[in-house]
Amino acid sequence: MIADTHDAALHQNRSASGREPHDKLRRRWSVIAVLIASAILVQAAFAGAMLSGVDFAFAAHKAMAALLIASTFTAGLVATIALRRIPNGLKLGLMLLALAFAIGLQTAIGKMSANGVNLMWLHVPLGVALVGFAMQAISAARKIGRGRERATNHDAPMRKLWSI
Ligand code: HEM
Repeated sequence: MIADTHDAALHQNRSASGREPHDKLRRRWSVIAVLIASAILVQAAFAGAMLSGVDFAFAAHKAMAALLIASTFTAGLVATIALRRIPNGLKLGLMLLALAFAIGLQTAIGKMSANGVNLMWLHVPLGVALVGFAMQAISAARKIGRGRERATNHDAPMRKLWSI
């Protein structure tokens, strides 16, 4: 009984020291990805407010575009460099960089629309697609550090027991 408890404690300590860094990274990058997805959603809300004639909405939509490009590109760059050796880390970094590029494209299309070019038909669905893309980034962030654990499946029953 005492031996069992001791073994369990040892196992937990070992697993804690083995998994803790990736757990923290997963949590941190999931929060970042959720913030980016939420900001894109807020951007759509500003667009709606703009179309409803709310005064500040156009300026907010414009400012949010710049903020989104800068934050998503920075997050993508940091993830690509810092997480490149961690399973699924490089994938997340490249996804965020691609998302930053797509937001840049969306901004260019929005500006052209505002200048009279007939591109609203593209600007609106691309905005919706960007939300979906950001959701993919959230799911990639939740997989950081998990690739190799899955490949060596010897501790799968234990993980199932702890429901991770
Ligand atoms: C990440 C998503 C989005 C970005 C980065 C973005 C960016 C922009 C930018 C930079 C402009 C031009 C502002 C200027 O004059 O400089 C613009 C205009 C506009 N956007 Fe967006 N936008 C996004 C999503 C959306 C969505 C989802 C909608 C609609 C539901 C929308 C509707 C509009 C409208 C109606 C305009 C005004 C165009 C006009 O004046 O003719 N945008 N957007």
